[in-house]
Amino acid sequence: MNHRDVLNRANPVMPVMVIEQIEQALPLAQALYKGGIEVFEITLRSECALEAITLIKKEMPQCLVGAGTVLNPQQLQQASEAGSDFVLTPGLTEALLKQSKEVDIPLIPGVASAGDVMLSLSYGIDAMKLFPATVLGGEAMLKALSGPFAEVTFCPTGGINPDNYQSFLQLPNVACVGGSWIAPTSFVNEGRWEDITRLAAEVTGKAC
Ligand code: 3PG
Repeated sequence: MNHRDVLNRANPVMPVMVIEQIEQALPLAQALYKGGIEVFEITLRSECALEAITLIKKEMPQCLVGAGTVLNPQQLQQASEAGSDFVLTPGLTEALLKQSKEVDIPLIPGVASAGDVMLSLSYGIDAMKLFPATVLGGEAMLKALSGPFAEVTFCPTGGINPDNYQSFLQLPNVACVGGSWIAPTSFVNEGRWEDITRLAAEVTGKAC
């Protein structure tokens, strides 16, 4: 499984998940799965995030479980040890790119400029997260990047919502979009699992 395979399998949307309590992990992942989603980004923004990755991977081995908000090599190592299938970063650093050669899972770096794309390509990575996508110009930015970097595939994330995700997905260099709207914190905290399934199904087109 390489970087590009991960993004292609995440199509149409990779949920950006913040899991504050370990008890929420499986119900959330299962609610999304019922709605047709099988690739998850669990952000390392909560204490139980690594535990949640291990748990979801164990109970739902048919899914791909990624660690998000990976900021440094230590977190990359932890994410790998927790059983992550891949990792996502909001930006890229030489330290992370070097460390990604040591771990056996794809690192999908966040990029925000042509220079970032070039640095990523120099490490053999041709599938990237564009972050924060709408602030950077959204579709216009992706169209501009498709000129010099025709071979690069993106997962735009940051500012993607129910009103704009479809136009991003129509771009040939977009494999999937990332977003938190599909798993809102308020729904998670209130245990509104059926509503999360409905949100996911609206995007995937899965009948539930
Ligand atoms: C991320 O963590 O990748 C972004 O914060 C998600 O952005 P969104 O909340 O606008 O979807």
